[in-house]
Amino acid sequence: MKLKSIHLRDFRNYESLDLLLNPNINVFIGDNAQGKTNLLESIYFLSTGRSHRIQDEKLCIRSAQTLGLCRAVLENHGDIQLKVVIHDKGKTLFYQNQPLKKSSEFIGKMNAVMFSPSDMDLFETSPKSRRKLIDVELGKINPFYMDLLNQYLKVLKERNLYLKGNNLDDAYLEVLTTKLVDLQCDIIRFKTGFVDRLNQIISKYYQKLSISNSIIRIHYSGPVDWSESIKSDLLDKYQKSFDRDKYLKMTHVGIHRDDFEFYIDENEVINVASQGQRRLIIVALKCSLIEVIEEMTGSKPILLLDDVFSELDIKRREALFEVLHQNTQTIITTTDLEDVRLWTKDHVSIFEVNQGKVVERSRIDE
Ligand SMILES: Nc1ncnc2c1ncn2[C@@H]1O[C@H](COP(=O)(O)OP(=O)(O)OP(=O)(O)O)[C@@H](O)[C@H]1O
Ligand SMILES: [Mg+2]
Repeated sequence: MKLKSIHLRDFRNYESLDLLLNPNINVFIGDNAQGKTNLLESIYFLSTGRSHRIQDEKLCIRSAQTLGLCRAVLENHGDIQLKVVIHDKGKTLFYQNQPLKKSSEFIGKMNAVMFSPSDMDLFETSPKSRRKLIDVELGKINPFYMDLLNQYLKVLKERNLYLKGNNLDDAYLEVLTTKLVDLQCDIIRFKTGFVDRLNQIISKYYQKLSISNSIIRIHYSGPVDWSESIKSDLLDKYQKSFDRDKYLKMTHVGIHRDDFEFYIDENEVINVASQGQRRLIIVALKCSLIEVIEEMTGSKPILLLDDVFSELDIKRREALFEVLHQNTQTIITTTDLEDVRLWTKDHVSIFEVNQGKVVERSRIDE
């Protein structure tokens, strides 16, 4: 899968942008606050149907405008066109110029994996951002998962709203609970399988990147563990939480409270890992995602590397280059070409970003 072109209109600081991309490596260089991350954000948006930085996507519309637009043309056995229009009521997603009703029909049509400085606090933030990462990545390779998750969130909202009302009918509450349980069985199965697969490969990447023998393990902590008796285990948990749910007027059990704990050599990362180790665990996680995405979809995802090299020492830069540089379309941002010198050897296009305008530079002078 290759991204051929990007068109932006009134997206962030871009008034209008038309860009043809190199099928190999594209480097975007520019000073701070010129629009490098905004450009990667637009590509991420076209891949996942959401921003990687903010919840309120209306902020992506250029100041004082009412509509923002991102469009991509991809080559994947023929041309594919994806479009996102952001407006005051939210966003509309288009595939081949047809508006889509469900985001699951859009997510993952273009598979891109982002390495962003904002990922780097994955261990320090709330479980929500860890859940979001797994949900987005799993959703990209499994549209059925995304559908189940959206249905679950709808029923959860309905149950919470019902709990807030007066005159509760236990029978109706049980109907909603059973719906939640039914949807969760498959969700937990998918999550468990996904984390198991990541655990098989994440240490390999971490060891290459860190030049060490450490073992990384992700533990999925859900409402119950996956097993043949998952349905009755879940029903049991809801039963035990029934009075508390009614008293506190909210649903305490379910995958909306999941977390993912990371371990390095069987110690929890948040307790023992250094800043550098944490960064490399996150990079190793992303590398594992690339491998799993390729395995499940049959094509290599597009790599989006947002200024990730400036923080790595030269040995780690070389290790990351070795791991990632595999005939994959790559889009890199940097403030300093020196940081990405390894990537600028051949088949590279270099673009300068300046106040929301992009100009291609002729081949780098070595
Ligand atoms: N909705 C918007 N409308 C207009 N401009 C915006 C909007 N949102 C962000 N910007 C502008 O975009 C610029 C930041 O762009 P971006 O985050 O892409 O910078 P960058 O080139 O990645 O910089 P750095 O090297 O510091 O990461 C800021 O000047 C900001 O004011
Ligand atoms: Mg940036």
